[in-house]
Amino acid sequence: MAKQMVIGNWKLHGSIGQIKSVLGEVAQARLAANVGVCVPAPYIMLAKQILQHTHVQCGAQDVSQYHIGPYTGEISSGMLADVGCEMVIIGHSERRRLFGETTEQAGVKLRSALDAGLFGVYCVGESAEERRQGNAEKVVAAQLEVLRGLPMGLFAVAYEPSWAVGSGVVASGEQISPMHALIKEKLDDRVKVLYGGSVKSGNAAEILAVDYVDGVLVGGAALSAFEFVGICQAAR
Ligand code: G3H
Repeated sequence: MAKQMVIGNWKLHGSIGQIKSVLGEVAQARLAANVGVCVPAPYIMLAKQILQHTHVQCGAQDVSQYHIGPYTGEISSGMLADVGCEMVIIGHSERRRLFGETTEQAGVKLRSALDAGLFGVYCVGESAEERRQGNAEKVVAAQLEVLRGLPMGLFAVAYEPSWAVGSGVVASGEQISPMHALIKEKLDDRVKVLYGGSVKSGNAAEILAVDYVDGVLVGGAALSAFEFVGICQAAR
């Protein structure tokens, strides 16, 4: 059974037809444990149904920091757990950059998710400018601050430099490995650290072989069963 994790993030993509066809093929692939698919919230129950006889877990891409009340448009951790959701991505660079989510909010969301029994995938990463200025480590370390005191084993950290997300540019092993080592050093060496940013079936084996890489968070390639299954098969 593969120990490395492969998590697919569908982002704002999909339809009933696409979920049925892609996840139907993923279900047929008989993948080992440690695989998850984070589909748009309206499709979580459908994804659960399609993947019910597999080890593949279903997740969401965000969650409210609130539990209940007059918060129009929000979805709580309890609601996600109620529909069988098993994991949730939190603090993705797109939430931070496009929707103004702060590290503090992401921390509250993660605690709420853990309280509801969901596995958290907490995203960190620097922008191209922050890396150019030599601040990548400082930025990531600040994003990790809100994880202090959280129990290990209930969440993973995904290192996603925003310049590698959806760009076709993959961070090099020399960039990935020290950042993953830093994350483990700041938190605990048992925390699983995933890499995200332009992972495809063709480069997955190389990325998954980099020191301190415990898995990958996959965006665009998760929309193709061929690509996603290929990445899962590269996990060790
Ligand atoms: O959550 C996934 C990441 O944002 C990576 O996306 O594989 O399309 O670059 P990507």
